[in-house]
Formats: sequence, structure tokens, C-alpha cells
Amino acid sequence: MKKQKIAVAYSGGLDTSVIVKWLQEKYDADVITVTGNLGQKKELVGVAEKAYKTGAKKVYIQDLSKEFVEEYIFPALKAGALYEHTYPMATALGRPLLAKALAEVAKREHCTAVAHGCTGKGNDQVRFEVSIMALAPELKVIAPLREWEFKSREEEIAYCEDRGIPVAATKASPYSIDENIWGTAIECGVLEDPMVEPPLDAYQRTVNPENAPNKPTYVAIEFKEGVPVGLNGKKMQSVALVEKLNAVAGANGIGRLDLVENRLVGIKSREVYEAPAAVTLHFAHRELERLTLDKEVAHFKAKIAHDYADLIYNGLWFSPLKNALDGFVNETQKNVSGIVKVRMYKGNLTVGGRNSLYSLYDKKLATYTIEDQYDHTAAEGFIKIYGLPLKTFNRVNKPKLLKVKKILKRKK
Ligand code: ARG
Repeated sequence: MKKQKIAVAYSGGLDTSVIVKWLQEKYDADVITVTGNLGQKKELVGVAEKAYKTGAKKVYIQDLSKEFVEEYIFPALKAGALYEHTYPMATALGRPLLAKALAEVAKREHCTAVAHGCTGKGNDQVRFEVSIMALAPELKVIAPLREWEFKSREEEIAYCEDRGIPVAATKASPYSIDENIWGTAIECGVLEDPMVEPPLDAYQRTVNPENAPNKPTYVAIEFKEGVPVGLNGKKMQSVALVEKLNAVAGANGIGRLDLVENRLVGIKSREVYEAPAAVTLHFAHRELERLTLDKEVAHFKAKIAHDYADLIYNGLWFSPLKNALDGFVNETQKNVSGIVKVRMYKGNLTVGGRNSLYSLYDKKLATYTIEDQYDHTAAEGFIKIYGLPLKTFNRVNKPKLLKVKKILKRKK
């Protein structure tokens, strides 16, 4: 009988290395590894050799960074999607794309199942599996970390040594880190105590704001229909632009976030993030929208941003709701073109200026000078009608006013 084939989302780390072997043994299966490059810097060196040495029958390594930035990150940016008003969701946005890559390989290779290395108490297992359910419902999903016998890192290392699987000799980081071009998530170790300030060694890609340059750095970010297209007057390709901003903002200590967040699986967790480009781009994009969006659209869009963030965080990327919301968001972005100059200084972002051909800011209406063209007399009638419901309400429900007893006499 032909062996069954299983495609595994493989990072080359300890867990996924154990998974490759464990699946071969437990399911007597041929294992195919799938590794996606989402613009992470560290992980991909030597991954293919490692996978083969661990017993993989076939190895896929795919550069997904352009698709990630253009089809996942930028839509989320246009929507203004920040989970719980803070987290730009590097990890949450990456999972559906990795799941898609895995499903594609699984179909091509006629696999019966896919497997991932997400833990049983995180959001990522949900994102992965719900994405597979949406894209390739016929595939079985195996989550070894939810079912295997290993209770510690040490046991996993012993298993690897026993079977001649290469394990990195580097000292284990005290943190659990997930990284891609949109940001780094850091958890575990001392960070599990929300009262503890993140130690300096927790941060991977940003300079401590205290050690950042003593002079501000200005970056002019150009947007076209809500999408960043250039820096400092130079048009740039999507991935290069985000990488460049990561470097510049990171060097200025921008993008450190410390968040107690509500996981989908019912836990509150403390997470530390570094997202220099993401924080900068959300900031700049929001500023450009302040200039170019009509008030009603802007206010309505802020509510949508909340829902859009929730659906990404909660693993519903491949859903009809996401597609419907994109329709709305894209309509709002038609005039979100222009330039925002941001000033980076020791971990802080401020606006150095903004400009757009579609700016709705009308100096003739806003000015207090002689140029003023605003119709002041119209305000009187407006206020009369606007305040009328309150006047009526309070005629019936007598308002309580402060009782002024007496006027205090000034002491002599
Ligand atoms: N809490 C974040 C999320 O659910 C990040 C999880 C990242 N994982 C990690 N190993 N640090 O999207």
C-alpha cells in the first residue's frame, strides 16, 4: 500500500523538527515540509538541509513576502486594523497565508493531511485550522502539540538526539518569539508577569529609545489610494519600503508595544511586540485620512476598523465578511493619496506635515484671519435647531443647577 502523505508547516525550530519525525513514526507517513518566507530575517538559513536530515521526503521553501505585504498587510493597513487598538497583527496576518501555502502544496502532492506546530492554548491553531477549513476542507488537520507526549523542551531535545535529528546548539532563548516583516511577537519567561517591565534583552529589532539618536529623523511617506508607495520622494517597491521603514523607525526606538490582550481562546496574555514599520505606517495612514476622508466616512470607518481587526485576530481572513468589508474599505481609500512627513524621535512619532491633492482642509473656512469665508450668521440658526431637543427635554425634566447661596465677600 502506498504511504499516506502529510504536509507540515515547518520553521526548522525544535517543535516542527520533532513533528517531522513524530508524524513519520506515528502515522507511518511520508512528510513534506512547507516553509514560507514572510520577510523574517533569521530563520531560513539552512532550513532545507535540516528538513531533509530530519527525514522529510520533499521540501518546499516559498518566498511569500511580496504577497504577504501586498495582499495581507496593506489591506489591514488600509482598514486601520489594530487589535485592541494596539497590535498590528504580524502573526495573525501571517497565519492565513502560511495556511494557504500549505494547502496548495498539500493538494499538489496529494496529501491527505496537513500538520502545524501551534500550541493548544494560542490563537494560531485556530487561524491555521479555520483557514484550512475554508480553503481545503477535505484535508485532515493534525496538531501534534495538542496530542503528543512531550512535556518539556528537554524531552523534545532527548527525542531528537535519540534519532539523530539536528538540533541547534544555540542556547534556548528565554522567550517565545515569532517574527516576520510586519513585526515581532515576544512572550514567555519573565514577561508572563504583567508587573515586570520587559528586560532590555527581550527586544530584538528596535533600539532602546534612550539610546536612539539625539536628533529627530524625518521620513516623508507617500501613499496612493491608502497604500504606501514611496519614501522621501523616491518610489519604492512594497517589500523594500516596509524593510526600509523597519530599519529607520527601529533605529529611532519606534514600535515597541506592551499589551495585555484578550486571546480568542479565552486567556488574557501579556505580549510584547516590536513593529517599527507597522506602527509608523498606521500612524501616517491615519494622519492622511484625517486630511482626506469626509467626517461621516471617517467616523464610520473607525468602527469597521475594530471589526476588521477582530476578524483578522480571530482567524476569519478567508471569510465573506472580510471580502465585504474590503469593498467598503477600498471605496474609502480612493482619495487617500498624498504625503505625510513623520518625525521620529526617541521612540515617538509626531507629524512633521501632511499634504494631499484631495485634502478636504479648506483654509478659507478654517482661518481666523481676514481671509475667512465661513458664514458666521448661519451658525446662529444651526445652534437654535441643534439645541432644540435639549431645550425641550429640560423644560419637562427640570435641570439641576448648582445652588449659589451667597456671594462671598472679600476679606478685608
Ligand atoms: N498573541 C499574538 C497573536 O495571537 C502573537 C502570538 C505569537 N507567538 C509567539 N510565539 N510569540 O497574534
